[in-house]
Amino acid sequence: MQTGRDDSFASSWKSHFNFSRSDQGYLPLYPLKQARHFKVKTLLLFSLVPLSLLLLYLQPHISAAISPWSLCDPHTYSAGEWVFSPLPDTAQDVLSVSGFEGCASSREFEWHLRNDGGKLGEYRRNASRWVWQPPKNKCRGMKPFAKEDLLKELVERGGWLLIGDSVTEEHFFSLSCTLYPHVVATPKYVDGTAFDRAWPQNLYLNPNSSLLPSLELPVGFDIAKTPLVTFRRVDLLFSRDDLIGLHKTLPPYNTTYPTLSSEIFGTQESWDLSPSEYLPIFTAPLPEAHYRTLIVNTAGHWTETTFAFTNGLPEIFAFFGDATRAWVKAVASALKGDTEGRQVLVRSYALGHENCQNINMPYKEIHPYQWTWYNWNWLDRFNEAFEAVVENFGHPQIHFLAIDRPQQLRPDAHASSDCLHIAVGTGVIEGWTSYITHYITNL
Ligand SMILES: *[C@@H]1O[C@H](CO)[C@@H](O)[C@H](O)[C@H]1NC(C)=O
Ligand SMILES: *[C@@H]1O[C@H](CO)[C@@H](O)[C@H](O)[C@H]1NC(C)=O
Ligand SMILES: *[C@@H]1O[C@H](CO)[C@@H](O)[C@H](O)[C@H]1NC(C)=O
Repeated sequence: MQTGRDDSFASSWKSHFNFSRSDQGYLPLYPLKQARHFKVKTLLLFSLVPLSLLLLYLQPHISAAISPWSLCDPHTYSAGEWVFSPLPDTAQDVLSVSGFEGCASSREFEWHLRNDGGKLGEYRRNASRWVWQPPKNKCRGMKPFAKEDLLKELVERGGWLLIGDSVTEEHFFSLSCTLYPHVVATPKYVDGTAFDRAWPQNLYLNPNSSLLPSLELPVGFDIAKTPLVTFRRVDLLFSRDDLIGLHKTLPPYNTTYPTLSSEIFGTQESWDLSPSEYLPIFTAPLPEAHYRTLIVNTAGHWTETTFAFTNGLPEIFAFFGDATRAWVKAVASALKGDTEGRQVLVRSYALGHENCQNINMPYKEIHPYQWTWYNWNWLDRFNEAFEAVVENFGHPQIHFLAIDRPQQLRPDAHASSDCLHIAVGTGVIEGWTSYITHYITNL
């Protein structure tokens, strides 16, 4: 497979519990205890005092030198492994095995959590018994995720605007459970009634939250009006008109068999919105908006049914490269004059697994595909291309989070409907939330 990533680690999950001595970075004090009193005084006067002055002088340099320890970068984080973490016998329903108290969103509750027929099956219960362990010693600055910290971030520093397809919608649902009962969700969905996937979904601070007294609401923040998280369904980063317009400006990818700009789209429907619509939402002022972080994800819909390029996936892939370049430029121009420290995160796309319903534990390494379903065997290339575009542009507020590897190792964590969507509460999507929280608070 074309990942170019090193998956050749073999440590057993048990090693997670044996921290090496080198983790304890202090010097033994016993020689001092054995010293005579005058020697201690001499030491104090002639060594410790100048030493502390020296440390005081060097302090800024030392913190600069150790700061890489506080941010666990995406590739380092992703080089970890899933470790087994047994569930208590008392955890017998889908919320308790998932570590949730409830979910604020009322949309497709059973489907999102894979609680088919309202019952927790053994396969689904098994899927909640794994915890992502980043490489030991390399991510020591990552403190354990706490929903209280994320709530504080969303209220005080600013919310998350999620832009993406149905997988990003799952991220929204997962957040509605992670943050429960401190948030409420709109709109209300009623089982069996129709809804439009284009409807914006929002999480607001629950006015009854026990954490309310500990939060400092920004001036102008309105509990009833200011969303903490918003999801907008955007499958292809752009509107179709934007993409046709962009295609017109590009030389043909294949001069012998060019695709007409008016004919780039195929038969598959998609939900689309122009950045000229969602970027103003991202930067809008209080009380209607107070977003600090834009989280974007795309690739799954860049298929041969959505597009009708004459030369198939290679041409779709080439167009994806041009579209992501145009997108990064549009985002950079929307960030001009930003004084709020807004951050844009592109999360790498999650991959599907063949035969997922028959695999009941995480992989130790990524398995290559046997078949060419959809664009799955191209998704790694899409992720790498988008990452290269972001890195080459080098905008200090636009980042690519290559954190798909934990998900790639979880064939056992899919929804029951298919092998692309992920069951909420299995630690996969919750891992995105926890990593993003770490990332934005350590930038
Ligand atoms: C659940 O995991 C156990 C091992 O802990 C395994 O024996 C069992 O087959 C799994 N159940 C399902 C339905 O996959
Ligand atoms: C907050 O509490 C009040 C009084 O118990 C209740 O009527 C209201 O529905 C609650 N609101 C939410 C969003 O839970
Ligand atoms: C152009 O497309 C044709 C038909 O798909 C293909 O055979 C040919 O290799 C392509 N040329 C290039 C330069 O990609």
